[in-house]
Amino acid sequence: MLSSKRILLIIGGGIAAYKSLDLIRRLRERGAAVTPVLTRAAEEFVTPLSVSALAGEKVYRDLFDLTDEAEMGHIQLSRSADLIVVAPATADLMGKMASGLANDMASTLLMATDTPVLCAPAMNVRMWDHPATQRNLKQLQADGVRFVGPNEGDMACGEFGPGRMSEPLEIVAAIEAQLTAGPLAGKRVLVTSGPTHEPIDPVRYIANRSSGAQGAAVARALAHLGAEVIFVTGPADVPPPAGVQVVPVETAQQMSDAVDTALPVDAGVFAAAVADWRVASASDKKLKKSRDGLPVLEFAENPDILKRVSQLAVGRPPLVVGFAAETDDVVEHATAKRLRKGCDWIVANDVSPATGIMGGSENAVILISGSGTEEWPRLGKDEVARRLAAKIADALAG
Ligand SMILES: Cc1cc2nc3c(=O)[nH]c(=O)nc-3n(C[C@H](O)[C@H](O)[C@H](O)COP(=O)(O)O)c2cc1C
Repeated sequence: MLSSKRILLIIGGGIAAYKSLDLIRRLRERGAAVTPVLTRAAEEFVTPLSVSALAGEKVYRDLFDLTDEAEMGHIQLSRSADLIVVAPATADLMGKMASGLANDMASTLLMATDTPVLCAPAMNVRMWDHPATQRNLKQLQADGVRFVGPNEGDMACGEFGPGRMSEPLEIVAAIEAQLTAGPLAGKRVLVTSGPTHEPIDPVRYIANRSSGAQGAAVARALAHLGAEVIFVTGPADVPPPAGVQVVPVETAQQMSDAVDTALPVDAGVFAAAVADWRVASASDKKLKKSRDGLPVLEFAENPDILKRVSQLAVGRPPLVVGFAAETDDVVEHATAKRLRKGCDWIVANDVSPATGIMGGSENAVILISGSGTEEWPRLGKDEVARRLAAKIADALAG
């Protein structure tokens, strides 16, 4: 619930501004008060009248409005909220925020306050992938700005990829996580999840049976405790949880790069089933049947993400948690893995087919740390995640 919370909602000029109307409704249903601010461009997409009617409050638009300035100055306005939400956060607004520009109502409000800020970016995939936007993202994260989304999918412009604004309920979940002072409030946690796909040629790949269910549950549980979660996921069967920053990847190399981009973090949970090998020279054309016999695939070793992060001389997360999926001698293998990789904890599980764990809804894990092993009973993956998140919160508090 968000009763007695005030959200300053800055609506930027993108197609996704229409979703912000629903966001206002959802926030008010949960008891929050919403002070809306429209950029000049946003008024091209939604009308001040609709926004004001839904929010039940006046809309702030013009920095130099004499009446507004006399009633509630922009400085006071920027500090009257528990949280500033920028949705949609346009490429332009992100650029202004990252470089400290203050040349209209929205950007001036963002500069004139130390109230926490949550951005829900929305833009064309090329705009999102542009090095300038990615630079701005990194800068804003370093400045403490939190992000929800963007999601991957079909876009209003007809293209496909990351850039779609998160759905209103996902943004609400992120707002609740940020405003509910859970034990992980203010902590940034990275979670990797799902399988990786290693291409053989443009249509074939090598994969594994990871569904991504346990990683997604861990990310959700950490977000519920108030953490800012960066969720780097391979092509999983289950959808990513709401309220986390989703970074979709395909290959182990892409996952490794995404992990580097996400650092520094307070804790890293490496639940992804990363392929150990990739095809050394994946063909850029579909391999054909040939009279010369079967194709011969040569393999190359993939980056060992867990080991590399665990052994970073600079910027190692204070807590590194690995997962070990084993089919025999689980404790022995997982204990050896913890020492070999240099991580703090290993969550070990037996994934032999008879257990039904891989792709199933339950898990039976053994938590291995420097102080010994802890065997948990067979539990739902959500419950395993809640217990692990609580342990992480304890460890980071201690
Ligand atoms: C039809 C249309 C759709 C647009 N959609 C987006 C968008 O989704 N994301 C974005 O960053 N910019 C988008 N733009 C560009 C912004 O409106 C433009 O950069 C504007 O200056 C942003 O102003 P603001 O950041 O002050 O709201 C769009 C422009 C047009 C004409």
